[in-house]
Amino acid sequence: MMMLLLSGATPLAALSCDACDVNASLTGFTCRDPALPLELCPVGRYCTTATFDDGIPCQEATITDNYPRLYCEEGSKSYSVCPGGYICPNTTTKIQCAAGTFCAQGTNSTFECLSEWFQSAESRCPAGSSKEPARYDSVVITILAIVILVLVVESIVWCAGKFQEKQRERAELLHLEIKDMSFNIGKATVLSRLKAEFYQGELCGLMGESGSGKTTLLNVLGGRALYGKIQGRVNLNRRRYEPERIKLGFVPQAYLIFKELTVWENLWYAARHRVSLKTATTEAINELVMTVVELLGLTEVAHVVCDKNIGTHRLSGGQLRRVGIGIELVALPTVLLLDEPTSALDAVNTQLIMQVLQSLAARGVLVVASLHQPRFTVYELLDRLLVLRAGELIYAGQRSYTLDYLDMLGFVPAPHENPADFFIEVAL
Ligand SMILES: Nc1ncnc2c1ncn2[C@@H]1O[C@H](COP(=O)(O)OP(=O)(O)OP(=O)(O)O)[C@@H](O)[C@H]1O
Ligand SMILES: [Mg+2]
Repeated sequence: MMMLLLSGATPLAALSCDACDVNASLTGFTCRDPALPLELCPVGRYCTTATFDDGIPCQEATITDNYPRLYCEEGSKSYSVCPGGYICPNTTTKIQCAAGTFCAQGTNSTFECLSEWFQSAESRCPAGSSKEPARYDSVVITILAIVILVLVVESIVWCAGKFQEKQRERAELLHLEIKDMSFNIGKATVLSRLKAEFYQGELCGLMGESGSGKTTLLNVLGGRALYGKIQGRVNLNRRRYEPERIKLGFVPQAYLIFKELTVWENLWYAARHRVSLKTATTEAINELVMTVVELLGLTEVAHVVCDKNIGTHRLSGGQLRRVGIGIELVALPTVLLLDEPTSALDAVNTQLIMQVLQSLAARGVLVVASLHQPRFTVYELLDRLLVLRAGELIYAGQRSYTLDYLDMLGFVPAPHENPADFFIEVAL
């Protein structure tokens, strides 16, 4: 008697075809010949009982025609639908669906799997796929589009904010602020913890005895104090002050002019090289130079050579000083720093230069000028005053408040005494 081992290691039953009759419930098996052992129901058929035949053909099932496709594998107990991931051309054949396609359950047709922009059709639908996985590219594209839209909107809002900020900055008056600023050359402290403010549209006088630090402070503000170390902060409109980023004019005590050139030529060449060459036409430069010449009261001597040894018409010291200032003015500075622009000049020339500076301040220039013992008439033209003594600040504030300030400290000037002289006396 033959024994049958079913799948797995354990014998399910020791059955021969002799048992078929008595074990009619044994499904999935067949006894084609009583002399042979019990067999698995053949492919393409199914066996409801282990009777003496080949089982029932798959297509005898009550399922209509070709759809869904049927397939009966070996040992089938009942008919079954062609499984997903396969095509079944007939009930005995089951072919795995190729990569890049998918085959639905019960069909004999393959369907093409679409690729996505980040995934090929083959990796989306490997061999034996029964359905196409959900598509993500449209979802990803939608998310990306939303992200890009959000970024674009954010950028527009940011740009609009920056634009408004710039507009505000443009509209805002220049405000130069020194905060606890010290300046050291080696171990020597030349300026010590200065606190002061300067405003656009104001003329500020810088006073103090010789060696008190006036030129040094101007050099710091002019970005020229590279020979020492600045500590503390200097701000322009609440941001770190960078002299090289603003239109800055600096008139040193020893100003430079080309003596072989006329007043007009000195200013014209300065303008030619300092005003943007892209925007300025020759006519525009001529007009600018003419305006500066008129402002400085140099019209009559515009075509006089600056060297006193050339020609008959000589320029005075005051006129030469104004040419030096003019060379800076043609660059249209917003901040103008001058180191002793009136020293060694007579009263008339001093007054002339100070009136020019006052008129520049009124036109929106932030003007700071160091002054050595200014006359009362000059002192009165100042909007703001800064007084130094040995690198320390004695006074920084409105000029009109100085006498009240001294009075508060118990210092009262004699009648008709020049407050500027009095202040320096007190400071000493
Ligand atoms: N390059 C330098 N090296 C060393 N010390 C310097 C330098 N420049 C200035 N000083 C010193 O710094 C101090 C201030 O000088 P500063 O020229 O600023 O004074 P000032 O008020 O302009 O004087 P004055 O009215 O004579 O022009 C002085 O004691 C001076 O000796
Ligand atoms: Mg000086």
